[in-house]
Amino acid sequence: MKRLLSYIYPVTKTIASQHSGPLEITWYNGKKHLNSKNANYSYGSLQRILKFGLEKINLSKVNSVLVLGMGGGSVIETLRDDFSYVKQIDAVEIDPIIIAIAQNEFRIFESENLKIHCRDAFEFVKTNDKKFDVIIVDLYIDLTVPDKFLNLEFWDNVIKSKSSKGTIIFNASVKDSKSETIKTVTDYMKTKIFNVDIHENVNNTNTLIIASGL
Ligand SMILES: C[S@@+](CC[C@H](N)C(=O)[O-])C[C@H]1O[C@@H](n2cnc3c(N)ncnc32)[C@H](O)[C@@H]1O
Repeated sequence: MKRLLSYIYPVTKTIASQHSGPLEITWYNGKKHLNSKNANYSYGSLQRILKFGLEKINLSKVNSVLVLGMGGGSVIETLRDDFSYVKQIDAVEIDPIIIAIAQNEFRIFESENLKIHCRDAFEFVKTNDKKFDVIIVDLYIDLTVPDKFLNLEFWDNVIKSKSSKGTIIFNASVKDSKSETIKTVTDYMKTKIFNVDIHENVNNTNTLIIASGL
């Protein structure tokens, strides 16, 4: 019924989060989305942006994926349903309320192949000693990538967590005010990683950076 009604007008439920402020679970055009006050967090345009990135990768050779910023888990749904990727995913999310939303509203449950870490992604990569074939960096508070994720110490640790032929997909800021700092990050990546592609205006909004190889 909610799904049907959502074709006529969006149906919304609000849940407060200490980290992100009010979060909205909204049925829109027959699909449930997770939104913060000003941004789509999961299952809307954000999901299409990350899918664009995944289309650039040969996932048949990928054995492990790390998602930094799990949100409602829409990229996990994309990996499983659109790309039939059934191997290991580790997902890091700072907000326990969002982890509960992912579980209760979007049926994203921990399993043998999905490990959910309720942790700060900055600390996670600092102490991580595993190598991942794909690392998706999708860390936002509302519309903003927190400054510590534009810091080169964070990127050193992300690069260290990537397997030698692995790929990093970075969903970079929608705000022009951060474009200089994002350029510093991409210039740094170019000194460490073989191939760095910058895709601007993906889905008419975000810059997506895809870095692969050594
Ligand atoms: C755009 S959403 C992620 C959407 C998700 N990748 C998906 O596929 O649906 C951004 C997420 O980053 C999380 N986040 C923000 N700062 C974080 C941090 N320091 N550590 C871990 N997660 C963080 C937010 O709580 C939010 O859930």
